Amino acid sequence: MTDSATSAKMASARFGLGLITDGMRVGLGSGSTAEVFIRQLGRAVRGGLKIRATATSDRSARVAIDAGIRVEPLDEIGRLDLAVDGADEFDPSLNLIKGGGGALLQEKIVAAASRDLVILADESKRVTCLGAYPLPVEIVRFGKLATLRSIAILLKDLGYRDPTCIFRGSEGVEFVTDEGHAILDLHLGRIEDAATLSQELVRIPGVVETGLFLGMANRCVVGQDDGSVTVIRSPAAGRAQADDRKAGESSKGRQCTDEF
Ligand code: A5P
Repeated sequence: MTDSATSAKMASARFGLGLITDGMRVGLGSGSTAEVFIRQLGRAVRGGLKIRATATSDRSARVAIDAGIRVEPLDEIGRLDLAVDGADEFDPSLNLIKGGGGALLQEKIVAAASRDLVILADESKRVTCLGAYPLPVEIVRFGKLATLRSIAILLKDLGYRDPTCIFRGSEGVEFVTDEGHAILDLHLGRIEDAATLSQELVRIPGVVETGLFLGMANRCVVGQDDGSVTVIRSPAAGRAQADDRKAGESSKGRQCTDEF
């Protein structure tokens, strides 16, 4: 990671930390940005902050425990106040591609169980149209080639020209998710109608979930290379503004620029 990438991640994570208050039930995301946040949260917990936390992947759970955060199963906590996660791409409506780390299923379950989803990102994740990043799709390993064929037919029917679908893995070793599934990465280039694609993919037997997170994120905190942040709000984000003011204050004088 370059120094500027690190400071962008640190800045968005610091802002995310400012959103956490005593007594909150928090979902911990996955990926390198979420891990920066988890470590900062761990320091705050060691300093006395009282929260309940659940994790979106085995790896994030380990990072959290190492940082001093007690991690509980989602079902023992129930409804969450806030999930804080990263993303591979976000568009102007805060629709996302997630799952670059292979944790999309648990990430989506945790996000759906939370009143508020905040995404920590940097400028490299901002796009006008989703799809340059390969779309991860989690599929059951049984009959995965049959599922792949159904997906290829669907993509052709939806007008995608020459999409490439690649099972994730390296050196002949298949990537297996925490839930025991495979990940198929769809190289689509541009996703014009993410809602239709998402609906149709999950209708295929064998598809568990897709990395399209549509209408789920309330805010995206975009860390900048200079250590400032830009906060993008989804039009649906109700109480976000007051929270953002507080977070901006507690992120110690860092510049916060509103967009939209
Ligand atoms: C994990 O499965 C993903 O959804 C991550 O949140 C996403 O890949 C972003 O990761 P980075 O913060 O490492 O870019």
